[in-house]
Order: sequence, then C-alpha cells, then structure tokens
Amino acid sequence: AVERTLSIIKPDATERNLTGAIVAKFEESGLRVVASKRIHLTPAQAGQFYAVHAERPFYGELCEFMASAPVVVQVLEGEGAIAKNREVMGATNPADAAPGTIRAEFAKSVGENSVHGSDAPETAAEEIAFFFSGLELVG
Ligand code: CMP
Repeated sequence: AVERTLSIIKPDATERNLTGAIVAKFEESGLRVVASKRIHLTPAQAGQFYAVHAERPFYGELCEFMASAPVVVQVLEGEGAIAKNREVMGATNPADAAPGTIRAEFAKSVGENSVHGSDAPETAAEEIAFFFSGLELVG
C-alpha cells in the first residue's frame, strides 16, 4: 500500500550540510517528499516529540541534541514507505548499519545518527500530525 512516514534530518546532518545528500538517498529509493520544512526545535518541543522515550537514560541528551541546531522535517510517500525509509536509513547504531545506508555513510554515533523515521503506521500518523497540517501535505 502507498504509505506516508515522518522523517527528520537531525542536527548532526544539517550542521554538516548533508540535507541534499540524504534527500537524494530517499528519492533514489523511490520515496517522494510531499512536505518539508527546516525548523529549530526547543528542548521542550523535542521532549514532546520523543515523549515515548521519557524514561530512557538518554532522554535528556536526546532532547538537548535535537534542539542543538536546525532539523529538516519531511513527509515521505511511497509504496511501503515506512519500511522502505527504515531500510534506507539503516540500523539505529551506525556500527550496525548496512553499507550504503544513510547511517552507515553519515551517522556519527547512536545518538547523533543523522535521521529519524517513523516505526509503524500509527506512529507515522501521530508524528506527521505533530509537525504538519493537512494543508501542508502536497502529494
Ligand atoms: P530515533 O529513531 O530518532 O529514535 C530515538 C532516538 O534515540 C534514536 O533514534 C537514537 O538517536 C537515540 N538513541 C537510542 N539509543 C541511544 C543511546 N544509547 N544513547 C543516545 N541516544 C540514543
């Protein structure tokens, strides 16, 4: 089925001017950017987005990092977009990411891992609604 997923190009990647290289990987895989904006989150906004991880030991560090520089939030659309995006990103820890994936090529560490992608249809819908209104989704 054609799906939509929420992607974030994280501060470690925007700071190194990797936005275009990362979007090229999404597009080469067949995913289409149907919404996109560059924003600078506050730590509180990052905390709200990652609320599901609030009890994790790395939560504070994660929120500070996500607010440390601009991010690019996008909605990617395509056949099986959620799984395809995760495949193109590679494993969360770049040490485990398959060759050619975004995290294998660009991520610095498990925390500064260049990209986020939704993990399931329910979270994709929630995460898209967190950042975008219906009017901003232009298939
Ligand atoms: P993401 O897909 O954005 O979802 C939650 C994030 O938490 C994850 O990517 C990682 O960047 C981050 N994360 C996971 N494990 C750790 C860890 N051990 N230390 C720091 N950050 C982590």
